Amino acid sequence: MKIRSPIVSVLGHVDHGKTTLLDYIRGSTIAAKEAGGITQHIGATEIPNDTIENICGDFISKLAIKDLIPGLFFIDTPGHAAFTSLRKRGGALADLAVLILDVNDGFKPQTYEALNILKMYRTPFIVVANKIDRLFGWEVHEGASFRETFSNQAKSVQQDLDNKIYEIVGELHKEGFQSERFDRVSNFASQISIIPISARTGEGVIEVLAMLLGLAQEYLTEQLEIDENAPAKGTVLEIKEETGLGVTLDAIIYDGVLRTNDEIALMLSSEDVLVTKIRSILRPLPLEEMRDSKKKFRKLDEVVAAAGIKVAAPHLDDVVSGSPLRVLSEDTDVEQEILNEIDNI
Ligand code: GTP
Ligand code: MG
Ligand code: NA
Repeated sequence: MKIRSPIVSVLGHVDHGKTTLLDYIRGSTIAAKEAGGITQHIGATEIPNDTIENICGDFISKLAIKDLIPGLFFIDTPGHAAFTSLRKRGGALADLAVLILDVNDGFKPQTYEALNILKMYRTPFIVVANKIDRLFGWEVHEGASFRETFSNQAKSVQQDLDNKIYEIVGELHKEGFQSERFDRVSNFASQISIIPISARTGEGVIEVLAMLLGLAQEYLTEQLEIDENAPAKGTVLEIKEETGLGVTLDAIIYDGVLRTNDEIALMLSSEDVLVTKIRSILRPLPLEEMRDSKKKFRKLDEVVAAAGIKVAAPHLDDVVSGSPLRVLSEDTDVEQEILNEIDNI
């Protein structure tokens, strides 16, 4: 048995800062390079624990968060109205979620839509109130914890932020959720934590990472236990033509092990099940965004969950995005499992 990284989906309205938050954590600049500044695909990035510890300093050890969870596996989703199905796919995969909003903008149509996806799948989540650096009079403390930077703001700025947080608390209440600023939460099982941050300056990001690790450790370890020898289970994100590889699929593996030459079952757009054999498995390096790193893939003979991978195999052309991916095994009727799972999406 192994504990895998929790899959953490980042959801929210367009331009509220999902990709920028992940950029800060990865030390990358993907948001700035996107066409029109808009995310149009689901992204995936593994953040190992040592990266989280580097960002958090001694904050994690102070909170008694152990090395139980190997890291966080982030899914970036598009916020633009056109991408409902991608948001659903990102939401369905998540063990945990970050609902991000621009603190100056508040709830917007896709914020509600994201919240409904989280309700539908009963995904535990935190709320991130982003762009605090844009509050009038805010004094930036690059990379500081929220507690530290907040205590160094003028009284009027603190009050302004708290008013905005209470508007968010009010909106969440209307939607059926109890919430509080994270440092005033008394019961993490019944109240949603709201963490004010700036994805641009990194203020508060420490608490976001610590909270995600803490929640995963406290509430999710059973669900994150995987059998490293079991046939893999995963979800297809996208079908893509890649030079030199032909038609490939990007997938998230959330259970078991996947090996080259494994026979896998997938769903076709005709709703038939395709069985094909894996020719190669490619995996991006940790901290690399899957959709962005053609050159930085490693070819592997096998991969254990959780992992974001690219798979080359024959006949992938008509596989549907969102399809389950299952390794064929003798003791289960994989074809029937796939059909059942499709019914549940
Ligand atoms: P979509 O994926 O298209 O839905 O957008 P997104 O939620 O990923 O937002 P993105 O990261 O693309 O950020 C949108 C804009 O807001 C960019 O210009 C960012 O630089 C800016 N931005 C994001 N976070 C912050 C922040 O904390 N402070 C400030 N000042 N700007 C931010
Ligand atoms: Mg984005
Ligand atoms: Na954007």
